[in-house]
Formats: sequence, structure tokens, C-alpha cells
Amino acid sequence: MKNKLIYNLLFAFALIVLSCKETTDESLKNDISKKESYYTEAYRPQYHFTPDEKWMNDPNGLVYHKGVYHLFYQHYPDSTVWGPMHWGHATSKDMVRWEHKPIALYPDENGLIFSGSAVVDMDNSSGFGTKENPALVAIFTYHLMSGEKAGRKDFQTQGIAYSLDNGDSWTKYEGNPVIGNDGIKDFRDPKVFWNEKESVWTMLLVAGDHLQIWNSPNLKEWEQVSEFGKDQGAHGGVWECPDLFPLQVEGTDAVKWVLLISINPGAPNGGSGTQYFVGDFDGKTFTSYQKENKWLDLGRDNYAGVTYNNTPNNERIFIGWMSNWDYARDTPTEKWRSAMTVPRKLSLQKNNDVYELINYPLTAMDAIIEKNAKELDLAVAPNQTKTIELVKNNQSEISFSTTGREFQLSLKNSIGDSLGIVLKGSEGSLVFDRTASGLTAFAGNFATGVQTMFVPNLPKDEVEIRMLLDKSSIELFVNKGQYVMTNQIFPRDAFTTLAVKNLSKDSLLLNRLTENRVQRIWD
Ligand code: FRU
Repeated sequence: MKNKLIYNLLFAFALIVLSCKETTDESLKNDISKKESYYTEAYRPQYHFTPDEKWMNDPNGLVYHKGVYHLFYQHYPDSTVWGPMHWGHATSKDMVRWEHKPIALYPDENGLIFSGSAVVDMDNSSGFGTKENPALVAIFTYHLMSGEKAGRKDFQTQGIAYSLDNGDSWTKYEGNPVIGNDGIKDFRDPKVFWNEKESVWTMLLVAGDHLQIWNSPNLKEWEQVSEFGKDQGAHGGVWECPDLFPLQVEGTDAVKWVLLISINPGAPNGGSGTQYFVGDFDGKTFTSYQKENKWLDLGRDNYAGVTYNNTPNNERIFIGWMSNWDYARDTPTEKWRSAMTVPRKLSLQKNNDVYELINYPLTAMDAIIEKNAKELDLAVAPNQTKTIELVKNNQSEISFSTTGREFQLSLKNSIGDSLGIVLKGSEGSLVFDRTASGLTAFAGNFATGVQTMFVPNLPKDEVEIRMLLDKSSIELFVNKGQYVMTNQIFPRDAFTTLAVKNLSKDSLLLNRLTENRVQRIWD
């Protein structure tokens, strides 16, 4: 009897152990398949930042603090199209891999949370933190829907919030809004930075067709000190997302200030784009004698980009939203919508007496580029085409150097999608053609024509052409970021070949042509 009891107990115990094992195996399997399917939807970028799900637009609050790079962003957590704006949040230790964080800022009675910036209040000028634990302060635009719907003009005001735990939780300032509105319909996108010339905080604000500059001792009380741009630069659309920072002119001791202004519409290749001005800032006023309109990126998908505050070594790091208001709401993705550009380092050159803003991927990115592909020196005879095989995963870096100035590159797949890039040195231009690159009909104005970029100051010697290809984007850097085009693409299958056509009467040499795989950053 006793034996039977022991036997039954042992049997029951074995059953429990077995069934536990089954559930553990099952949940392990689920875990693994969840991991394998994580971030693998069609067109999901593998090494560009995208929100886990739902809508994203502008990067906001780019700031480095205590070893962490913060990326906040315009986010609507209930839909894949634009709606009531929140600030989404992600962090990175290396500017390559990102960790998603809970939503940082929610709309409140003052309105939705539009674009803005963040600073570290080192000297505790706001009184929100202490000198030992300085507050992270976010400065953003409130957009009051009821005001807009009522046809008023004063529905955009500026507010602030602070965090004492490096961005994990946020408290809105009870004195919000810190800047009201006297009836300017588009009055937004505060970029704040510490102004060493005046020992004050400086805020850049766009007001429809121009920039306003405001100064403050404590981030709470602001006074307007100047304005810029009513009759300078491109005015095909409303001014948005300003930024202003000093850069040393390469190879000299001179320092110039660069002002970024996004405009929508009115970009040279249609819709949204980012212009820049090179000039001087005396602590209150920005002046620029620049005559022609200059653009940071001539592709169609780099908008609302701004730079980091407080970076180690004062490195000027830029991130843009890789989309265009012409069709941002219509791109063919389901779970999430839109991505950021890779982080880029900004620098300034003076070429042929012209200032040029250079933007080029951060070297930190090299950590995920598998530099083990063979380098090929490819010679192409006049009017001939040579074709090379690609790794066929649309997740790679393709690069070469050349003195050639007349050639065509085509990325192709087996079902007829083709993406074209033509360098026309004799005309000083480069043409980008995504009209037959895959899905394009989701929006009438996605692929209406080719895009042109002027490349007037290309040097005569060898230049590097570098392309970063991800599942639904291509970033093209000519001569290490002297000329840049960023574009979304939706090929129906991975590109399998690169065709190189020599359009000149001389033989064409592409030196050190390689395609390196780029690792995915999500696990
Ligand atoms: C730029 C922009 C900003 C605004 C935000 C709203 O893309 O229009 O001017 O603050 O998006 O989401």
C-alpha cells in the first residue's frame, strides 16, 4: 500500500516535470520564433532606426547625457498615419544600436506635443535639478487642436518639461506655456542650445516664413532678440525645424555658423527638404551673405533633420526623418511607418570659394559593416556595360572610387525593377531615377520624375561613391558627403545585380569596388 502511494507520487511528479518541460520548450520555441520574426516585415529597415510600431516623423530632443544618446521623435502610438503627436523615445550607447523606451511626452490640456529639442541644464539655471544631478529639459511646441479648429491663429505655443532620471520619466513645467502666441499661425519647433557668447540659453523658433531668435537665463523666461530670413533663402513653403551651430572650416582656424531650415513644400526635387545658410552669429543675431539657396541633401527623403546637443568632443551629429510630406502617410508598410537616416557627422568645407556643408555617416557605423568582401578594380570600355552580382539582400554598402565622371549605375532585380544613378560630369549634375524601382503607385507624387542634384565643385581627382542600401532606402554619398541624396525605395524583390555603363569616350575605372554586408541592429 505504502509502496503504491510512493509509486503514484513519483508518477505524478514525473508528469509534472514532463509537462513543465513541454511548456518550457513551447515557450522557448515561441520566444525564438518571435525573435526571428521581430523586425523582419517586408521593407523593415534592418540598420536604420524605425519605431517598434505605428507612426513616426521628425527626430526631436537629440541630446547626449551620461553616456546615453537620446532620440525622441514625433509619434502617434494609435495609428500608422499622423495623428495626435507624442514624443516617442529611444536610446543608444553607440549611435548604432537602439533600445526602445516608453513614450516620453503625452499631449495635455495645452495641446499636442510637436517638435522640439532637449538640453542638459548643467548649472541648474532652471532649478529643476541640482548641480549634482542636472535636469534634462525638453523644449517643444504645444499645438492646440481646438484652437486650430476654431480658426484661430494662436494655437502653437512653447512648453518645457524636465527629467531627473536621464529621460525615463518626465514632469511638465507648471508655468507652461513659456512662450505664448500673438497670432502667428506657424510658430514652432524650438531648438535650444547653450550660448557661450552671451552665457544664456538661445532658442530658435520658426514663424511661418522666417526664424526668430530668443534668449533666456533659465529656460523659463524668454526674450526675442532678433529675426532672420524673411527675404533670404528658399520660401516655397513654410519654414520648420531650425538648427544653428558653429563649425570650423576644414583646414583653417576659421569658424562659421550654419543654420538649418527645413521647408515644406519647396524642395528642389519636390515636397520637403532642408536648406542651409552659412554665416555668423554674434550671440543675438545671425547674418549670412549667401546668395544662392543651398540644400543639405538633394534626395527626396531627408527632412526635419537636426543635430545633437552636448556630444562628446562637440561632434556635430545629424539625424533626419527619411520621408517627405508629399507621400509620408502612404508608403507601403503596415506595422510601422517611416525611418530615420543613419546618423551623420556634419562638417564644413570651402571649395572654390563656396562654403559646402558636408554630411557623411558616423564612423561608429563601421562596427556593423562587414569589411570582408573582395575589392574589385573594374574597367569598362567606352559605351560598354559591365555587370556584377550582388549579395541579394538589400542590406549592404556598395562603394568605389573613380576619376570617371560620365557613367550610369543600375541596381536591378530579376523581376524588372531598376534603380538608376547617372553622373553627368560635363553638365555638373547627377540624376537619380527611382521611377521603375519597384512599388511607386501608392502615392501619385512618389516617382513622378527623375531627381537632379548639381555637383559643381567635384574635384578633378578620384572621388568616392558610397551607397548605403537598406530594405526600403538608399543613401548616396558622393565624395565623402560633399553631395548627398537620400531616398526611399520599395523594390519588389532584392536587387541582384549592379550594371555599370561607361557613357564617356575614355575607358572607365572603378577602383576598389566592393559590396559589404551590413549587420542588422535589432535582436
Ligand atoms: C515637420 C513638422 C514640424 C511639426 C511636426 C508635427 O515635419 O511639420 O514643423 O512640429 O512636424 O508633427
